[in-house]
Amino acid sequence: MNKCVFVTGATDGTGLAIARRFAKEGYDVMIGSRSGERAEAAAKKIADEFGVFSKGYETRIFDEDNVKAIFDDIYKSGRRVTTLVLNAANLGIGQESLTVNIDDFMAVYQTNVGWNFMMARAAAKHMIENKGGSIVFITSNSAIRVTKDRCAYCSSKSAILGMSKSFAVDWGKYGIRSNCVLPGMIKTERWRTNLNGTKYSLPNYTPIEDIAEYEDIADAAYYFGSDQSRNTTGAELVVDGGMLAQLTPDITRKLWKDEE
Ligand SMILES: NC(=O)c1ccc[n+]([C@@H]2O[C@H](COP(=O)([O-])OP(=O)(O)OC[C@H]3O[C@@H](n4cnc5c(N)ncnc54)[C@H](OP(=O)(O)O)[C@@H]3O)[C@@H](O)[C@H]2O)c1
Repeated sequence: MNKCVFVTGATDGTGLAIARRFAKEGYDVMIGSRSGERAEAAAKKIADEFGVFSKGYETRIFDEDNVKAIFDDIYKSGRRVTTLVLNAANLGIGQESLTVNIDDFMAVYQTNVGWNFMMARAAAKHMIENKGGSIVFITSNSAIRVTKDRCAYCSSKSAILGMSKSFAVDWGKYGIRSNCVLPGMIKTERWRTNLNGTKYSLPNYTPIEDIAEYEDIADAAYYFGSDQSRNTTGAELVVDGGMLAQLTPDITRKLWKDEE
């Protein structure tokens, strides 16, 4: 049976780069998105480009019937999900802790913790039958050191570290591994256009004077998701250009080439 990866939030950006990384290695690639249409379009592109089987699924957040239906559909097609990459996230931006509406706060947890949990245990059933598999969480370096006005986001990303270790411990006996990738800044439009009010040029935030390309995160996800990391579980890989290692950024250095 061919290896099969399911990637959430995979119609563009980081998620799409992850899906493409696995497609390049010949995996069957399942694309999850809140939009079934976008998921199907991305899957078709991947199938055409890499000559692999690919299918798009509409993911309804925090809906366990939807999760079950997706994994049943894959099962009925004769495939078993052998790698699950949980990339989609509610970013919970601008949630000031004294004033945030509790429903908005909990929506972040429903996606990043509750729904990820549902997805992981549905995938685990495929993996148990397949005598092993790999769960990869795309969490964040803000699981360890936080950013302002994002209590739900940062603490949900910390919760993911614990959830991943729990799966590693609980499901290791089935050959299931669970690991976390912790990106720092990725070159998304959000950072390029500084929507977060980033004050200084982006490379000034990292000792190596650059932030991550989508492909840097995809490579780390592939490492954890594939047999390359067959003896690694309950682990974390920080991909942040060294942001976490430094106490304060050197804001006086040169500008990012795109901003010069
Ligand atoms: N960008 C960064 O600098 C950065 C830094 C550290 C960590 N990360 C983490 O890396 C991963 C990818 O980051 P990204 O910036 O590429 O993410 P993104 O584009 O903001 O989100 C990834 C996908 O998640 C889905 N999504 C967005 N908002 C959602 C919501 N409210 N509820 C449910 N699903 C939602 C979307 O997919 P659909 O619309 O197709 O459903 C989206 O394409 C995320 O887990 C993020 O937390 C990113």
